[in-house]
Amino acid sequence: MLVLGIETSCDETAVAVLEDTFTVRTNLLARQTDLHERFGGVVPELAARAHVEALSPLMERALQEAGCDVRDLDGVAVTVGPGLVGALLVGMAAAKAVALATGAPLIGVNHLEGHVWANFIEHGPPEPPYVCLVVSGGHTMLLHMPEPHRYEVLGQTLDDAAGEAFDKVARLLGLGFPGGPALDRLARQGDPDAVRFPRAMEASGDLDFSMSGLKTAVVRYLRAEREAGREVDPADLAASFQEAVVEVQVKKTIAAARAKGVGTILLGGGVVANSRLRERIRSEGEAAGFRVLYPSIELCTDNAAMIACAGSARLARGERTPLDVAADPGLPLPGAGRRGAER
Ligand code: KG4
Ligand code: ZN
Repeated sequence: MLVLGIETSCDETAVAVLEDTFTVRTNLLARQTDLHERFGGVVPELAARAHVEALSPLMERALQEAGCDVRDLDGVAVTVGPGLVGALLVGMAAAKAVALATGAPLIGVNHLEGHVWANFIEHGPPEPPYVCLVVSGGHTMLLHMPEPHRYEVLGQTLDDAAGEAFDKVARLLGLGFPGGPALDRLARQGDPDAVRFPRAMEASGDLDFSMSGLKTAVVRYLRAEREAGREVDPADLAASFQEAVVEVQVKKTIAAARAKGVGTILLGGGVVANSRLRERIRSEGEAAGFRVLYPSIELCTDNAAMIACAGSARLARGERTPLDVAADPGLPLPGAGRRGAER
């Protein structure tokens, strides 16, 4: 079964072709970083226009590299939300056109389900149930998954998403956009114990998160040091901030896995590319007796292979999406209700 995947929910134009749900034939990406960099964030109108320009040639290249013709496709999977509505519409129009022209069934995919399913590419889903931490530019969420397609939201951020906090603190340090990867690199040269930033919500007794207090603590610290005439080592600051974020995420994920009695912890989303998060969840999760899985770095940040994978699995279950499906910027995870929806 050959399935084309299309992802345009934010600022990456992405196209992939997967065979039999889990085997990647090709997985292509056109980044828009240069376009948005000078604005310090993604400009929705520019993102949508850039998707229009990039998508058709990328689709053509993907089919060529996958060694197939558009008529060979057994399905077309596309992100329908959550995301920027104008950006989503570009990918959806292209997917609908391919489905209409070829008769291949369309399957709409939730972007967050894609991040979760990125874990299953190459090996398929392990024995459920799982607890999954989803941390991206738009979301911070802990999920319980009794089955590979069922989601229960256990907790989420009360304010900023983890990726957003990384990007904002990176901007304070003059690291450019998106700042998460740059902050991660800088932190490797710093001391994570240099500044003890608050571990927000660590002892809150629930599985929710909060990032805004930590961000304010970083701003206050920088100001106080400047006023006192002391030099701040940016690498120490980056490492200390990162440690505060990662520590709470690791502890809450393990607490959730214990509370739900699962054997496997999954991680998904762009922030899972973070080296310290990968290191700590692996060592502490395994020490606590859990199997810990996360995707390779390229499959953590936005990509179309994850969309094709999740979509293929739904197609294989006989699911179809009508061609008049609308983009939904606040689409909740299936079965999770609106509580998991904001972006
Ligand atoms: O999943 P993603 O590619 O897009 C969304 O769905 O939002 O996540 C992007 C986010 C950005 O905020 C980016 O700074 C962050 O993931 N990110 C990282 C790292 N790589 C990407 N944050 C921390 N460390 C990284 N290595
Ligand atoms: Zn994403």
